[in-house]
Amino acid sequence: MLKVLRNIAIATAAVAVLAGGAQAAGMEKPVAARKAVMKLNSFYMSQLGGMAKGKMAYDAKVAQGAANGLLALARLDTSGMWLKGSGNDVLGNKTRAKPEIWSTYPEVANKSKALKAALESLVAVAGTGLEGLKGAIGAVGKSCGGCHKPFREKKK
Ligand code: HEC
Repeated sequence: MLKVLRNIAIATAAVAVLAGGAQAAGMEKPVAARKAVMKLNSFYMSQLGGMAKGKMAYDAKVAQGAANGLLALARLDTSGMWLKGSGNDVLGNKTRAKPEIWSTYPEVANKSKALKAALESLVAVAGTGLEGLKGAIGAVGKSCGGCHKPFREKKK
């Protein structure tokens, strides 16, 4: 009897480990996809930041394109990339997403809304001249940071 119980315990532990592994494996694509969205955000922001800081010549078409691109990204439905159980409490160093994203919901959604609002302002002025861009880019950068601070793990 004891031996049977022990075997059940071992089998249960093994299943738990397997389930954990399978869960993590199913998260690879969603995690890669959300990082890809963030990389695109970062590309457009580096163009706009470069122009705002005078490291890159202002070009109305490029500025407008980058602003439009950021807004398009913000409007994507990315909910399938942010599945419960895909935080760094479960996936370890495969992600920098903190579990607070899910435990404090809808805080993170409010951060997304703030970014979208800042981007709508940016889109209206980015192509009108350097001064317009400079006036609107700060709020966008703050919205990126406003979400990273509570919800993204610091780089180790
Ligand atoms: C609503 C929250 C939120 C907003 C807004 C946000 N981010 Fe992120 N960002 C995250 C989280 C969470 C991660 C960690 C994702 C992961 O590792 O799975 C991340 C990761 C990143 C990364 C690293 C990607 C990688 O390859 O690991 C970059 C770069 C980035 N964000 C740039 C930006 C920029 C630029 C903006 C603004 C235009 C922005 N983010 C807005 C939450 C946000």
